[in-house]
This record gives sequence, structure tokens and C-alpha cells, in this order.
Amino acid sequence: MKKVLALLVAVLLVFSFAACGQQKTEAKTYKVGVTIYQFDDNFMTLYRNEMEAYFKSLETDAVKYDVTIMDAANDMATQVEQVNTFIAQGVDVLIVNLVQTSSAEQVTNLVQEAGIPCVLINREPAEEFIGENMCYVGADARQSGTYQGEIVAELENKGDINGDGVVKYIMIMGDPENTDAQYRTEYSVKALQDAGITVECLFQQTGNWAQDQGQELVANALASFGNDIEVVFCNNDAMALGAFQAIQGAGRTVGTDIYLLGVDALTECCQMVLDGTMTGTVLNDHIAQSHAAVDAAIAYLNGETVEKYIWANYTKVTAENAQEILDILQ
Ligand code: GAL
Repeated sequence: MKKVLALLVAVLLVFSFAACGQQKTEAKTYKVGVTIYQFDDNFMTLYRNEMEAYFKSLETDAVKYDVTIMDAANDMATQVEQVNTFIAQGVDVLIVNLVQTSSAEQVTNLVQEAGIPCVLINREPAEEFIGENMCYVGADARQSGTYQGEIVAELENKGDINGDGVVKYIMIMGDPENTDAQYRTEYSVKALQDAGITVECLFQQTGNWAQDQGQELVANALASFGNDIEVVFCNNDAMALGAFQAIQGAGRTVGTDIYLLGVDALTECCQMVLDGTMTGTVLNDHIAQSHAAVDAAIAYLNGETVEKYIWANYTKVTAENAQEILDILQ
């Protein structure tokens, strides 16, 4: 009887040990709050999808990321409200794509008071707004503008289709509040001038990064200036897609009687560069930028110090390397 009892106790002990061994330690879940200036933006859509996927890919049995991404719908008041809600919910870190960089303070003050680390992305505010436990992840738009201008300067006729010694261009700008729009506008033209090319601006207006506005503006410009327009610079690819529709509508042919430039390297635009329906674009590396933003957020969560500025490089995209870029993006 004693032996049977001892055996029973031993079996019970083995079972309880096994059960203990199987008990998983609870994963630590970090709450991440993200607000994007506007979901209805081709480039920022690629960016936020990549950011979400990258957070997922970094999860382990021990660490999870509960990521909430909100659409500020291009409204600063909405964004401030979203940041307030995130703070009330006790998020551990914030990632903010500002609606208005000039109103950055409205967000950065809240974040600072709450003592929550914050990664600012894509729309660069003035340095004074980037406080303690905050950083900015972006790309230097001067480089993208310069690349646009260089693509034209490297053409055999240097953009001077009618051979009159002057490159006449139109400029379709993004939101003029953004340094991306300001620098791309300035540096695309500067690169032409630096290459010794004489330029003349026929038309410069803002299309707010949007395809439909790009189409409308370029249609207007083509109606006013017709064949005088040799180069169409667009601060981004979405507007260049709109510009292309207008160029087609006016019966003009890219690469023959007009040149068309964008920035971002959306896959459809890389394909157009390959087909010759766009002269060139510039890769705005959403993969590198979104990963850098997530890495910075996680570094804050781990209590590490983060550089104030984290930069990604742009890459020039012409018919020569468009396939390579497409292979990376797809
Ligand atoms: C730029 C990008 C544009 C647009 C803009 C939003 O970097 O090239 O397509 O997304 O950001 O601020």
C-alpha cells in the first residue's frame, strides 16, 4: 500500500513539474500610437503599411507591439485630439507625421508634458520643436530636387527641346508648408543652373501632393503655354501621374516633345520610366525611413538614447536603373 502511495505521489509530482514547464511567461506588450497627416496620400500609404509590417516582423514570444494608426485627415485639430487620446490611453511611444509643421508645438508640448517619447516622421519641423526624447526621421529634400534637375541636365539636349538656349519649365509644388516642397522646387532648378543651363519658369503652383490637382494644374499650364513647355517638374509622383494624364490629353509625347519628372518612385512611375512615359523620378525610400522610425521607437522603449536626426538617402531613377528599383520595391 505504501509503495502504491509513493508511486502516486511521484507521478503527481512529475505532472505538476511538466505543467509548470509549459506555463508561458506573459509577453510584454508595448502600446504604440501613430498619427499620419493624411491616409489619402500614395507615398504615406506605402510608408505606414511598411511600418506596420515591420513592427509585426519584430515581435517575439516575449515582446508584442500593439500599434494603432490614426488618419489625421489633413486637419491639425484632429491630430492634436488623436495625440491627446493616445496620451490618455497610456501609449508607451508615439510616431507622428505632422499635419502642419508650423504648428508642431501643439503636438510637441503635449508629448513633452506627458513624458512620452516621440518619433517625428516625413514632415520636418523647426529644430527648436524637437525636444528631449524626440527625434526626426526623414530624407533631405535638397538631394531629391538636385537629382530631378540632374536627370534633365544629363539628357542629350539638356532639356532644351526647341534648341533656343533656354529650358522653359513648369513647377507643380506639394504643400508649400513642407520643406520637401520648398527644397525640391528650389534645388531642381538650381541643379540645372549649376550645370550652366539657362532656365525660365513659365508657371509655378501648388497641387498639394495630389494627383487630381496635378492633372488640373498641368492641363491649365498646357492650355496657356502649349509647346513652350519643355520640362514639367512635379514635387512628387502622384502629381506627376496627374501631369501625365494632362500631357496625354494635350496630345504631347513625353521623351519627344516634353519631359516629365517626379519624386517617390511609386511602382507605377518606375514602370513609366521604363516605358519612356516619364523621364525620371527619385526614390524616396519609404522602406528605409519606416524601418528607421520603428527602430527609433523601439530604442526609446528600451531606454536607449536616439540621435536627434536620422536621415535616409534618395536614389535617382532613370530608364537605366528603374528595373532594379522595381525589383527592390516589389
Ligand atoms: C513627401 C512625398 C510626397 C508626400 C509628402 C507628404 O516626402 O514625396 O509624396 O507624401 O511627403 O508630406
